[in-house]
Amino acid sequence: MRAVDLIIKKKQGLALSCEEIHFLIQGYLSGAIPDYQMSSLLMAICFQGLNETEQLALTLEMLKSGEEVDLSSIKGICVDKHSTGGVGDKTTLIVAPIVASCGLKMAKMSGRGLGHTGGTIDKLEAIPGFKVDVSPENFLKQVSEIGLAVVGQTANIAPADKKLYALRDVTGTIEAVGLIASSVMSKKLASGASHILLDVKVGNGAFMKTVEEARTLAQAMVKIGNRAHRHTVALLTNMDQPLGFAVGNALEVIEAMETLRGRGPQDLTKLCYELAAELLLMTNMVVTKEEGLKQVEHAITSQAALDSFRQMIKYQQGDTKVLEDYSLLAKSKYIFEVKARKDGYISQVKALAIGQAAMLLGAGRAKKDDVIAMGVGVKAFGKVGDYVHQGDVLATIHANEEKIDEVFTMVLEAFVISPHQVLAKSIILEIVS
Ligand code: URA
Repeated sequence: MRAVDLIIKKKQGLALSCEEIHFLIQGYLSGAIPDYQMSSLLMAICFQGLNETEQLALTLEMLKSGEEVDLSSIKGICVDKHSTGGVGDKTTLIVAPIVASCGLKMAKMSGRGLGHTGGTIDKLEAIPGFKVDVSPENFLKQVSEIGLAVVGQTANIAPADKKLYALRDVTGTIEAVGLIASSVMSKKLASGASHILLDVKVGNGAFMKTVEEARTLAQAMVKIGNRAHRHTVALLTNMDQPLGFAVGNALEVIEAMETLRGRGPQDLTKLCYELAAELLLMTNMVVTKEEGLKQVEHAITSQAALDSFRQMIKYQQGDTKVLEDYSLLAKSKYIFEVKARKDGYISQVKALAIGQAAMLLGAGRAKKDDVIAMGVGVKAFGKVGDYVHQGDVLATIHANEEKIDEVFTMVLEAFVISPHQVLAKSIILEIVS
């Protein structure tokens, strides 16, 4: 077999066999196939796509390039959730403790931020002392004992994906559905859970801008998961405006804790309830979604979910006092208010702009124990459909610099105010199973 022949085959729109995909991935990992040939192949895939069989073969090949987490020693049903990335998406911090307190086991490996979105691991590191590097033994022990662990992805999960992703990033080949689906699912399958819930974000602040694109990606990932014998479901959820109010590491941790106390923003609370209830339904812990939602409500009102979160912080060596005293979390030096310049209805809160503003403030660069940087971000209080008067606070900017003109303008312009009311889209757009 020669790489050049396979590149030409894909360029002509023909399907690659499992053996050919094996040859390409192994050759790329070993260095026998150079970056320039793999780049050319990736570009051909962007134009010609991958069929279902090719997607599954690519996923399994990338999965087999590294370690698979063996969760068989854990008693109970191991679940995983994955979000394709959004602005203000702190759902894992809430859903994991909820479902753990309902009896499921959430053994989660999470990533760092990508582009304008923050990663769960970065957020958790805002908790003083919290360790995301946990040995495999301790990870399994923690999940067995308290039902949840959220840790950083080990280096040896799907190394072929890591190498390919880095190449895609610099060759303009990130956006092919087959490549994204295989990339995400290789890591999800490697994490070992039997049930996988995917939160595919749609809209201005998401990587998938339209419902059609998101549906195609969701269907591809669900098919790969189910064909690999994992029960996989996807929710398409709205990411036109930031999720909840807070965007930025420490700000999001506080909002997650408030949500676990039953005092979270309405959209965030609704999405977390739906995700948690879906996990309970998928795993037959409940018979109907309504029953699932009731269990979730009980996990919140009884404080069982908050307690699960406390246990996770304790096991991962974080300071549990933050739960009672938010002032122990990082704070920015300055807080600026962004006020409405006119009366009217908020018709848009551009999530992408808010996410980019938080990144400009340094939210994406914040490193563990950097108490000041961890506190930066934006709180976007205004939501689509709200009526505001001139002078009402739409958002606060949490910054460490005094001069933030560019960020201020970005945040102000992210809010579009119009004379007519526009109703916000529902947070759950579709379920793909
Ligand atoms: N996230 C991933 O893990 N892989 C992709 O290809 C895109 C987003």
